[in-house]
Amino acid sequence: MVDERSLGAQGAGGGETRGRKAPGRQRESSRAVSGQEQSGDKRLDYALRPRSLDEMIGQERLRDKMRILVQAARQREEALDHVLLYGPPGLGKTTLSHILAQEMGANLKPTAGPAIEKAGDLAAILTNLRKGDILFIDEIHRLGRAVEEILYPAMEDFVLDITVGSGPSARSIRLKLPRFTVIGATTRLALITSPLRARFGVVERFDFYSVEALEEIVIRAARLLEMPIDQAGAREIARRSRGTPRVALRLLRRVRDFAQVRAEGFIDQEVAQDALALQEIDHLGLDDLDRRVLSAIITKFGGGPVGLETLAASVSEERDTIMDVVEPYLLQLGFLDRTPRGRVATRAAYQHMGVPYPETPGQGSLFG
Ligand SMILES: Nc1ncnc2c1ncn2[C@@H]1O[C@H](COP(=O)(O)OP(=O)(O)OP(=O)(O)O)[C@@H](O)[C@H]1O
Ligand SMILES: [Mg+2]
Repeated sequence: MVDERSLGAQGAGGGETRGRKAPGRQRESSRAVSGQEQSGDKRLDYALRPRSLDEMIGQERLRDKMRILVQAARQREEALDHVLLYGPPGLGKTTLSHILAQEMGANLKPTAGPAIEKAGDLAAILTNLRKGDILFIDEIHRLGRAVEEILYPAMEDFVLDITVGSGPSARSIRLKLPRFTVIGATTRLALITSPLRARFGVVERFDFYSVEALEEIVIRAARLLEMPIDQAGAREIARRSRGTPRVALRLLRRVRDFAQVRAEGFIDQEVAQDALALQEIDHLGLDDLDRRVLSAIITKFGGGPVGLETLAASVSEERDTIMDVVEPYLLQLGFLDRTPRGRVATRAAYQHMGVPYPETPGQGSLFG
């Protein structure tokens, strides 16, 4: 039942191709509850982005660590240690990177794994850095092997080894680089090679946000955008935002449209509920795709275990979408378990879908 490739993908994300362009963005891009960035998000994102660690809401543990890191580096008048940030899309990795630059009084130079195609591209970026600069590499798991190998000595010893000439007259020159900082961001820690990971002094995970934190984020955004909202309205949006600020801000926009047309612009609980029901987002923030995934595991695969590829195919979605956006939140809700043999629906998932929990779950697909 479970195919080889989905087995390899368990936990370690083993079966994946590095450097491949992530598919599935097209369809994913229309989901209101997607953590992935959509075209309408950008303008608003920028205006609403917190500018300092104090202004950032939630992620207390992480913010505390970052405060100490920044203060210590500032006291020693050193560049910040290299930082690797990972976690599902839309939780604030890019935002925090900008904040760290701000707090350090440093320049942030943004780039992304797929944008650095050749070793020479990276060499050009590195030789343009000045002391204390922060090189932000988004989607760092998508760096190619040759590029990565340039990065290792640059991060560790602040040197750049380049080869000049070719054939028998080729020789290697070593250039000194200024002390700089790499901040890497990724949604896929498992795809970071161990030598690259070892170059980061700080590796930090983003957690999903609490409903309280999201409520605060919604209220702050509504204030900045001058949208009238009450606390119950904000909470309703927060509860359905699947722990993700980007989703909260997007749902706020959809609710605002609804409020403007149907409720004289004011967002209270009822307006939020009606607006989100219209988007077919349930009280936990699950949308049609989440429900199709759960329903497939329960009805087509007898509750599981089912491999990722098989599951993705059965709901006609890209496996990356299932893995990046659907699964993390279902796991967080306790609706899914990952086992060595595949994904399994839990009792809570059956309950949410209104299906009676079988006496011996999974037996059908294991031995049937
Ligand atoms: N702690 C926070 N407080 C307030 N707003 C936040 C917070 N974290 C993120 N946001 C907002 O959420 C949006 C998404 O954040 P960001 O772009 O930093 O996510 P990301 O983790 O980099 O996502 P991706 O993986 O897609 O790159 C931004 O508009 C940002 O303003
Ligand atoms: Mg980002």
